[in-house]
Amino acid sequence: MSDNHNSAGGVPTTGHIWDDDLADFTNQPPKWWMLGLTASAIWVVVYWLMYPAIPLAINGTYFKGFGLPGSGQWTAIKELAEDQAVLDEVRKPYEDKLKDMTPAAILADTNLSEYVARSGKVLFSDNCAGCHGQNGVGTFQTGKFAEREKGYMAPILNDDDWLFGGEINTIHETIMGGRQGMMTPHKDMLSEKQIDDVTLYVKAMSEQGKDKADADASVAAGKQVFAESDCTACHGADAKGMPAMGSANLTDKIWRFDGSIEGIKQTITYGVNAGDNARVAVMPNFTEGGKLSAVEMKKLAVYVYKFGGGTPEAAPAAEAAPAAAN
Ligand code: HEC
Ligand code: HEC
Repeated sequence: MSDNHNSAGGVPTTGHIWDDDLADFTNQPPKWWMLGLTASAIWVVVYWLMYPAIPLAINGTYFKGFGLPGSGQWTAIKELAEDQAVLDEVRKPYEDKLKDMTPAAILADTNLSEYVARSGKVLFSDNCAGCHGQNGVGTFQTGKFAEREKGYMAPILNDDDWLFGGEINTIHETIMGGRQGMMTPHKDMLSEKQIDDVTLYVKAMSEQGKDKADADASVAAGKQVFAESDCTACHGADAKGMPAMGSANLTDKIWRFDGSIEGIKQTITYGVNAGDNARVAVMPNFTEGGKLSAVEMKKLAVYVYKFGGGTPEAAPAAEAAPAAAN
């Protein structure tokens, strides 16, 4: 089978022959290739000595490299800091202005609000998107609460449906101070039957609108529970919600939590932020512990407003002039 010297031109083979005439020859690689190989091996060593590349066993330090001729030792951190300094220089005039402006004034300034929306995007991804979704589209509950919650982790921010209100100042307040959902549990207040009835009425309002639901005899019992229990105190007699409380509008098709009959029943029975089985709705406070700076929170307010669902201030004329202080 194998014959090491059975080859064309006298070049020995490795001894492996397939199909009787396919053989590996032991030719040397071309000279240019060998030179290239040697050159790159030398380059690796030179490169290695110039740049920080060799970890040392002592104290987690490393060999810092001899540096580039003329420009000294190079480190990625140093390069980053230099780039950052250039960037900061460009940003400084904007950042300085922002310090003294209200979010409403920033919004009114086309140039600045454009600038702010850009840096707001990074801030939002880092601090908010985990709960509100990238670009405020909302994220569904996952993990421990997924089965129980079956809804959004936090309200969608890129629509014009607001719990607390979409005015720029309100959004700013929400970010600075945080919010807590306060829908009370009704398991000890209403009977199971009353909860079932009011659930059907709420579902009917969402599907047909309040007027039709009110006229619908099949949900009359629930209508009565709604009117006579504490629901109207927080959701309003029109059931459209009260921004001061962040109570949901119950007459639209937008559901924060699970909008199925089962889901609505659970929200009414166990409430929000009220212990076992309650739904969880906590918007963190970003002022405490200096999580975000004052300027960062203003940027985010403008950024969120610009998702498209922002509500103009009631008295825009008063807000348009840049206020002296924030
Ligand atoms: C841990 C999750 C979480 C994070 C992180 C978070 N939020 Fe929220 N956010 C919520 C929840 C929950 C609510 C609703 C509170 C309620 O039900 O009363 C909310 C409400 C809001 C609202 C009010 C919405 C409305 O309809 O009125 C705004 C605005 C908002 N968040 C902006 C932000 C911004 C900006 C950030 C980042 C700086 C952020 N949130 C980070 C959970 C979060
Ligand atoms: C103490 C005030 C308060 C009372 C009383 C109250 N609610 Fe609520 N409710 C809220 C708030 C605030 C929310 C918004 C969710 C949250 O807590 O973050 C809410 C949310 C809901 C939701 C969920 C809406 C969604 O989009 O998922 C339903 C359903 C609901 N309430 C029905 C009722 C009914 C029915 C009653 C009366 C039996 C009632 N609520 C009484 C404050 C209240």
